[in-house]
Amino acid sequence: MGTRIVFASWVFIFVTLLSQPQLSAQSTLPVAPDEGQVHARATALLRKMTVDEKVAQLSQLPGTPLPEFTENVGKTMEEVLKQFGAGSILWISDPKEINRLQHVAVEQTRLHIPVLFGLDVIHGYHTIFPAPIAMASSWDPEMVEQAQAVAAKEARAAGIDWTFAPMVDIARDPRWGRMVEGAGEDPFLGAAMARAQVLGFQGQHLGAPDHVLASVKHFAGYGAADGGRDYDSSYIPEEQMWNTYLPPFKAAVDAGVGSVMSAYMDLNDVPASGNHWLLTDVLRDTWHFRGFVVSDAFAVKSLVTHGYARDLQDAAYKAFTAGLNMDMASGTYLKYLPLELQQKKITMRQIDEAVLPILETKIRMGLFEHPYSDETNTDKVLDDPEHQRLARRAIPRSVVLLRNQNALLPLDKKTIRSIAVIGPLADDQNDLLSMWGALVKPGPTVTILQGIQEKVGPSVHVAFAHGPNLSRTIPSPFEGIPMTAALKEQPAQTDQEAQQSIADAVTLVRQSDIAILVLGEIDLMSGEAASRASLKLSNHQEDLLEAVSATGKPVVLVLVNGRPLNISWAAEHVPAILEAWYPGSQGGNGIADVLFGDANPSGHLPVSWPRASGQLPLYYNHNLTQSPETAPDFKSRYWDILSTPLYPFGYGLGYTTFSFDHLQVTPEARIGGKIDVSADVTNTGKDTGDAVVQLYIHQRAGSASRPVRQLKGFERVTLEPGATRTVHFTLGKDELQFWSPAEKKWVVEPEQFDVWVGGDSSAALHASFRLTN
Ligand code: BGC
Repeated sequence: MGTRIVFASWVFIFVTLLSQPQLSAQSTLPVAPDEGQVHARATALLRKMTVDEKVAQLSQLPGTPLPEFTENVGKTMEEVLKQFGAGSILWISDPKEINRLQHVAVEQTRLHIPVLFGLDVIHGYHTIFPAPIAMASSWDPEMVEQAQAVAAKEARAAGIDWTFAPMVDIARDPRWGRMVEGAGEDPFLGAAMARAQVLGFQGQHLGAPDHVLASVKHFAGYGAADGGRDYDSSYIPEEQMWNTYLPPFKAAVDAGVGSVMSAYMDLNDVPASGNHWLLTDVLRDTWHFRGFVVSDAFAVKSLVTHGYARDLQDAAYKAFTAGLNMDMASGTYLKYLPLELQQKKITMRQIDEAVLPILETKIRMGLFEHPYSDETNTDKVLDDPEHQRLARRAIPRSVVLLRNQNALLPLDKKTIRSIAVIGPLADDQNDLLSMWGALVKPGPTVTILQGIQEKVGPSVHVAFAHGPNLSRTIPSPFEGIPMTAALKEQPAQTDQEAQQSIADAVTLVRQSDIAILVLGEIDLMSGEAASRASLKLSNHQEDLLEAVSATGKPVVLVLVNGRPLNISWAAEHVPAILEAWYPGSQGGNGIADVLFGDANPSGHLPVSWPRASGQLPLYYNHNLTQSPETAPDFKSRYWDILSTPLYPFGYGLGYTTFSFDHLQVTPEARIGGKIDVSADVTNTGKDTGDAVVQLYIHQRAGSASRPVRQLKGFERVTLEPGATRTVHFTLGKDELQFWSPAEKKWVVEPEQFDVWVGGDSSAALHASFRLTN
């Protein structure tokens, strides 16, 4: 099946999903059930099941009519459900419909096995938090855990038991639109975010009250798509898999994630959804994962598209024997696994092994005891003002102040009389939510214009000009259906119309004390199927920026987008630049808090910020080369632009400054021992603020070349002006080991190491230590 067909089906499914009333959550189990009992109960149930009932548990059914599914299976989803039950149903958000279907499963099927209802609750359900890349910019796992606990609570209150998150794909290339859904380029930060999100979604154990089952995705290597083109093949050497791409997945598994979603793309010529090495050798045999694997949507069927399976039956065989438990939406397992069994290509034992973790998960989740949602509680949960408060508090922590020349920010509302708020993203609600945020069940959203108006009050004149419209040159496959009508492209304009909108904006700026420009990408420009070849500000936004700057008025640029953009001109000419990412429901309030100094921005980049797309992929933890980092020509490996990032990984300014000193490091330790690292961080400015103290190491020699720097610790600390805190880190086996391509295993080597501590990946405060045998 072609990619376009996959999109079309996917998009079609959402047509009826998203505008219906909510119910409240199932009760759940306050303590984790005994694992022995879980296993015994699942095994007893399994013994009673027919082949078709078992295969139905291995299937996730599309929750809305999908002709392609019906055609493939020869039955509608509901007919399958009534006859055999189902492992799961996805893409339904209406709790009444969820309950209705659950009644069918529990009351009308022979064995009364409840269904898991799944949806993409990625960074909020009703209260939308900043997008995942923004949450990663907070370097604040505790806050991220809290946010996902709120998302889980709201989703569960609406009858959803399973979220397809966290997305933990390492992304080193912002041409890839899905960078917005993950934690950026670094495995250590990515692992911390993965762990926090799993704990937030699932709570202390599967089935914890007000929590949901999480699904870490997309296993694995999706972020390395060739050319940043979504769904394209990834070629990742084994050492890069282990050292860079797999650690966040491992962290999620160690945190107890209950399910894993396999990726769409080819990994080293073996599609991830049919890749035995990934799904069995790594996940089950090496990491001892005991949950279940679900495919990405239609990915089993796509094994044929890849040219990996010869037909759909072969696709079912290859995915199943690779270790994929549940087929998302394609119906391929339903149709072909019984046939495979009949033809003795697979055994009943294999089927039982695949079904067991699904049944065990349902038991752990408490679904057999509490299959239905409680409608009386839903609104109370969704409307909890504490959720909005947390979402607003998350914004200053996740926005990144990139430039603040002559301390233009924070603005003083007592001295400013008039403000021109300019730009196609300044007064839009859905575009602050990002794609998934707009696709679930978002509550009201505060736009940036509204947030500014509210903040400065009636005594300051706030005027607005939209500027040029934002639309994609090549339309999104998600465009043109009710779901994307909510996401909303802005109508395409002629050059003349765009130039007129710029002239109008300039007129307004001339009449104002200051201009706040809100530029970037509408939600359809970042996310799935939203790759870009150029990172430039699209649709005349650069012209707008330059024209407004030419007025000589002070300009603040607020970026709303899902990936670093080419802002090389702005970085030299615009005094203040704030990366807001997609800030969510409270976006306008949170950004206004930051612009007017009620909150101090403290996010730090989870990605290296390129100067131009020609540099990609770009990442800080690259290896040393013949021309080392310190050589005079290092920065000019291209003759047309510098080869270094515009802003380094870990970078972020605030309204105060910090100094780092007194770095102390255990000078020598035996392998197996610990290295203690400590450093002082001092607030050297005039405002209270949060520093994100970062620890990087470098192994000087070994069985393989090692990256110039690798993040191995971080801590967010709040300091009053003048205050100093000593921050402690410990480096043990987990931080010092790497997977050696020479040794083909994890090693800790007796070598000399460098250590740096500071506020970003270019930190200068340095020491070293030695590991010995
Ligand atoms: C996406 C997944 C998502 C799934 C279900 C796919 O197109 O790649 O990330 O979880 O759809 O909506």
